[in-house]
Amino acid sequence: MTIRLGDVAPDFSADTTDGPITFHEWLGDSWGILFSHPKDFTPVCTTELGAFAARKAEFDRRNTKIIGVSVDDVASHQQWKGDIAETQGTALNFPIIGDEERKVAALYDMIHPNANDTLTVRSVFIIGPDKKVKLTLTYPASTGRNIDEIIRVLDSLQLVAGYSVATPANWRDGDDVIIANSISDDEAQTKFPKGFRKLKDYLRLTPQPNK
Ligand code: BEZ
Repeated sequence: MTIRLGDVAPDFSADTTDGPITFHEWLGDSWGILFSHPKDFTPVCTTELGAFAARKAEFDRRNTKIIGVSVDDVASHQQWKGDIAETQGTALNFPIIGDEERKVAALYDMIHPNANDTLTVRSVFIIGPDKKVKLTLTYPASTGRNIDEIIRVLDSLQLVAGYSVATPANWRDGDDVIIANSISDDEAQTKFPKGFRKLKDYLRLTPQPNK
């Protein structure tokens, strides 16, 4: 099943390294990040799982739960955890789904047969508290993901959920933001009391409103 932005993230029940879950219930009112890795006991995946674990406190601060998935079973994940802690210096601190029947992989279209017909690609889904998909990313097996970028886009998504703004290229938390074109200049003066710079009618920048 292809997942598009704005779709409700498919719900499922699964066994994980922290016990059985039903996904939507597990998410509760939080934001969520569901990400797949191709295979346990492989090098790039080991670094990625360690990298997500090392940044867990930053996801917590953003009211965001993270959960991994691959087509290995929970027993395999449990064994692999020791290697992650040993080599990456951070113990795994979030659940990984055992998806040996590929139920989650099928729901989220994580197996791309022309890349590999048995292993999940490196997918990322950011899901809002309304359970709708806000971002999808797909990386090949050979490229480990950048956790800074995932946190950067999460910051952007959480900001635009509360204000009539968008974030420019290479934006980072604290940088100026773009005022939505649905807001008139008069409205902008009220909504953005720190003022704004008008480079073009369609390009107005203002200091990040929640800072
Ligand atoms: C890796 O994590 O290094 C990896 C996993 C599956 C296929 C190729 C590489």
